[in-house]
Amino acid sequence: MSEARVALVTGANKGIGYEIAAGLGALGYRVGVGARDEGRRESAVGKLRAAGADAFGVPLDVTGDQSAADAAKLIERRAGRLDVLVNNAGISGEAGPGWVQDPTTLDLDVVRANVETNVIGVIRVTNAMLPMLRRAPSPRIVNMSSSVGSLTRQTDPEVEVGPVMAAYSPTKSFLNAVTVHYARHFAGTNLLVNAACPGLVATDFTGFQAPRTAEQGAAIAIRLATMPDGGPTGSFFEDDGVIPW
Ligand SMILES: NC(=O)c1ccc[n+]([C@@H]2O[C@H](COP(=O)([O-])OP(=O)(O)OC[C@H]3O[C@@H](n4cnc5c(N)ncnc54)[C@H](OP(=O)(O)O)[C@@H]3O)[C@@H](O)[C@H]2O)c1
Repeated sequence: MSEARVALVTGANKGIGYEIAAGLGALGYRVGVGARDEGRRESAVGKLRAAGADAFGVPLDVTGDQSAADAAKLIERRAGRLDVLVNNAGISGEAGPGWVQDPTTLDLDVVRANVETNVIGVIRVTNAMLPMLRRAPSPRIVNMSSSVGSLTRQTDPEVEVGPVMAAYSPTKSFLNAVTVHYARHFAGTNLLVNAACPGLVATDFTGFQAPRTAEQGAAIAIRLATMPDGGPTGSFFEDDGVIPW
């Protein structure tokens, strides 16, 4: 069994997920790089190792039951433990000009794909990893959400919330709700589960049209993944503190 704490980051081959893996690696975690494409996964693992991280590749498509089960078996075999799960993989699906997903003309396949990846994918991967997380002394789950999932902010005329994204944004509200229910289930234990918003980050996701770096976006997830026992659970954070639901 690994002496070091072990983390799995989904969608870690690029963007914010890659930087979460790099940050946890720099803190001494052994990091499983969850990624669906072999070439992109191995290239990320190579870069992380070159930077000094103890990284290993975990083939993982969050939309596949078998893929999630196989990923859990691989981590059990390679590391024998899992302390941290960061559910970072996410998609927004197609949008119209200005990133708008108009609710009145939504392509239902885009809605289904968003829910399958951003919500069901998180439940699928979490439940596959739970047997190992339950054995960890201080397990942490971080769900990468977005402030666009905050219904409070979406309905506050004083807050600039960006375009209407009627397929993507509701999946983050759904993910927030799921986070609350995991936190309720594990209340009174050492397993802490929270949602995080990285801010508006320059990655493929935003066409690199955003003010924050992926490293800045990764910071809140790293903080929640590494906080001591007794920390908050069932909450939603950005760098500046709690985001209202
Ligand atoms: N960027 C922002 O401003 C922003 C703001 C708020 C929240 N977020 C959230 O932050 C997370 C990361 O976003 P990002 O900006 O880093 O996006 P990104 O650069 O597009 O990276 C997304 C990652 O998710 C992976 N992924 C997508 N579908 C997957 C699947 N079915 N199975 C496994 N991996 C899958 C991608 O893998 P492939 O390379 O194989 O596609 C990629 O590694 C997402 O959950 C996003 O919703 C981002």
